[in-house]
Amino acid sequence: MPEDPALELQELTAALEDWLRFQRRLGWPGTPAESETPSPEQVQETDRVLTLKEIRAELGDCKRCKLSRGRKTIVFGDGSARARLMFIGEGPGEEEDLQGLPFVGAAGQLLNRLLSKLGLRREEVYIANVVKCRPPGNREPEADETGQCLPFLRKQIEAIKPRVIVTLGRVATQALLGTQAPLTRMRGQWQKYREIRVMPTFHPSYLLRFPKERHKTWEDMQQVMEYLAAHDEI
Ligand code: URA
Repeated sequence: MPEDPALELQELTAALEDWLRFQRRLGWPGTPAESETPSPEQVQETDRVLTLKEIRAELGDCKRCKLSRGRKTIVFGDGSARARLMFIGEGPGEEEDLQGLPFVGAAGQLLNRLLSKLGLRREEVYIANVVKCRPPGNREPEADETGQCLPFLRKQIEAIKPRVIVTLGRVATQALLGTQAPLTRMRGQWQKYREIRVMPTFHPSYLLRFPKERHKTWEDMQQVMEYLAAHDEI
């Protein structure tokens, strides 16, 4: 047994720090290279909540994934930067890719009708997608594409700070919440993303194909509206 356990721990910690410094100089992959270690100023800078404009600038003419090759336009998002209610879809379709705006095709028209029936204007909510470039043939975004794009969506959420997020469809719900749970289990049930309430519901494209299911999304939206009204948000 060491005579002084506290001293022994201090010595061990110092030896471990030395060893880690040495490994870092050798470029051992488990430790960040010294030049990559962010300075306190850099940490402060990256910790700051960016504005939507800054996030868009950071995205630039994005080539982070293969979706960039087939896109015409980056569909960043649309609506109020101070929206209390945010909708998240899957990814732009053909019309969105042409116009550079989310949900402006057939599914968007149904979303617009839903908003107006709820007494909401498009300009007072914010609408974005999990991926910002159109997947070819409207296929689902792949894991690498979602992985590259999600950080930007997370930053948008951080900038807007909505009180409620409505995820439209399975892809958006699973991507945002980081779960594989089926939409049927989550739809209509409050979920949480960080401290924000999330209401998963059907995607408007699905509702175009199965109009009999529309009443369920209507019910989900009633929960959202009741929550926002109870919190004086809308
Ligand atoms: N479907 C989506 O998920 N997003 C859009 O912007 C349009 C259609």
